[in-house]
Amino acid sequence: MSVFKISSLEQYHQQYRESVENPEKFWARIAAHFHWHKQPKNILEWNFDNFDVKWFRDGELNITENCLDRHLADRGETPALIWEPNDPEEHHRVLTYNDLHEKVNQFAQVLKQNGAKKGDRICIYMGMIPELAIAVLACARIGAIHSVIFGGFSAKSISDRLQDAQAAYVITCDGAYRGAKDIPLKEVIDDALIACPFVKRVIVCTRTRRPISMIKGRDVWWEDEIKKVETLGLKNVHPEVMNAEDELFILYTSGSTGKPKGVVHTIGGYMVYTNYSFVNVFQYKPGDVHFCTADIGWITGHSYILYGPLCAGATSLMFEGIPTWPDAGRFWDIVEKYQVNILYTAPTAIRSLMGFGMDHITGKDLSSLKVLGTVGEPINEEAWHWYDNNIGKNNSPVVDTWWQTETGGIMISNIAGITSAKPTFATLPLPGVQPLLVDENGVEIIENNVSGNLCMRAPWPGMLRTTYGDHERCKKTYFSTYPGLYFTGDGATRDDEGNYRITGRVDDVLNVSGHRIGTAEVENAINMHAGVVESAVVGYPHDVKGQGIYAYVIDENTHGDEELTRRDILQTVTRIIGAIAKPDKIQFVSGLPKTRSGKIMRRILRKIAEGETQNLGDTSTLLDPGVVDEIIKGKLV
Ligand code: PRX
Repeated sequence: MSVFKISSLEQYHQQYRESVENPEKFWARIAAHFHWHKQPKNILEWNFDNFDVKWFRDGELNITENCLDRHLADRGETPALIWEPNDPEEHHRVLTYNDLHEKVNQFAQVLKQNGAKKGDRICIYMGMIPELAIAVLACARIGAIHSVIFGGFSAKSISDRLQDAQAAYVITCDGAYRGAKDIPLKEVIDDALIACPFVKRVIVCTRTRRPISMIKGRDVWWEDEIKKVETLGLKNVHPEVMNAEDELFILYTSGSTGKPKGVVHTIGGYMVYTNYSFVNVFQYKPGDVHFCTADIGWITGHSYILYGPLCAGATSLMFEGIPTWPDAGRFWDIVEKYQVNILYTAPTAIRSLMGFGMDHITGKDLSSLKVLGTVGEPINEEAWHWYDNNIGKNNSPVVDTWWQTETGGIMISNIAGITSAKPTFATLPLPGVQPLLVDENGVEIIENNVSGNLCMRAPWPGMLRTTYGDHERCKKTYFSTYPGLYFTGDGATRDDEGNYRITGRVDDVLNVSGHRIGTAEVENAINMHAGVVESAVVGYPHDVKGQGIYAYVIDENTHGDEELTRRDILQTVTRIIGAIAKPDKIQFVSGLPKTRSGKIMRRILRKIAEGETQNLGDTSTLLDPGVVDEIIKGKLV
């Protein structure tokens, strides 16, 4: 019996038991399935009090050999990446494992020729084209640390991240297509680099061929650099032999403070965990076409477009566009065109497509689908059933996968067709994952069907190791709320069968269309707008996005045109963070409900944004209770 693949309910229980009783033995057996230059003997060292976790610490490897080289003999001609362009009229591309191997090596040579080396931080800001995957893997090939930034972030967000990581290299595109939009990526990078003189090289890949500036001595074209290495006859790069605990990538994510943090993942544990979770949760079988609709700028794309599937030798479909362009049938056209077997998307996409009715689905051949997945936010019952009925035709298990940027891979999920699904429940922990619920005092909640805060009591290989450049912050954020436990920031309940239902964040983090946005970050951005005195941002239920952003703003320009000021504020937020953080509603107020010590009572603001006017809780401790009535009267619908 394979220790890797879970093929029955009994095996799930058995693997789970083993993983808890003897994690070292369990993960050593899983890790033995990979290609190591030096097999690890030292499997796990850990300490949550002074957060220090090391998996496979004496192991040596290169992750790209596991994603590419080891597949060449058996499936060199199997498609590794299928790329579907934004415009359905444009030709798609297929890169076999041989092709991808060649291209990754070539670009790794380019990076080396440009002076990049092991340990360097390389920022990647590109659209969803195969060169993005190639760039990521080429970094890993030479041992450089990639930091992919989602194409929707602004110049200011990019420069903050570049400075934090002290990245000397940037890889970008002239522009990116997303639906009807042509996004000026290089222009944004140029603005970002004004504050980053330490960036010595920008490699620009051609996609939209919009006019861009190319700065002499700093900017070079991807295509020219490839020609140079071809002329020099440079082919395969000897993969850098890395320690399992060397850093693979940094991915910035929002927390409850104003400053995003660089979540750091290391090579060995991340590789083992993403691959193990990919194969098991989706019950991947050789030959399956896997379509994860996420962007590689987020953790889902890292783990389940790239590393997890490629390590498994799977065919991963990468889509440049959006689900609703040229029309709302795009996903279903893609499923039909490539006979997709596994579809992994977000509740927000499902809810948005639900709104377009069945016209775009009827008549499309979705019979290849075997497994449907969701990720990123709680899925409501209606969306779950719609997905199950209309897309899966009640014949494809729906896996609701709960995890986080910090966890590296899926943590709580049903295993397709093996453990039971339960609508709105992420269900059971994967082997190696030990969740528990605690009350606000950190006391474990033993009884079921009670809300609690979701924690983990032991490490798993895919967990973050630090936040870049600030280990104290990492300890404080994840390990100090409940000493001895990793705190997820999520609330959850558990039913009598042990199934977990994630109810959402319990901290000041919003989840808008599956994207994490810190309220403090949005407030900081709003407050930068001239005339804004103060602001408070909360979430409210939104039919498509899951949560919308509601901002209460004190603005001193009371004489001005309110609508214009609102638009100016949106523009400011777009400049400071990016369009993804734009508030859906901005209400101008003369004051905010504060306690006598000056703390904003967000609880009250949240209730008002949700439409509650009566049960606002105790308002007697407020400095100026009158302000609450004013806010209720002015509430935006
Ligand atoms: O609140 C949880 C929610 O998304 C958060 C993690 O966001 P991020 O790091 O951006 O990663 C998203 C993709 C893994 C979690 O703290 N979340 C994620 N998946 C689910 C979910 N909430 C409910 N159900 C899920 N399946």
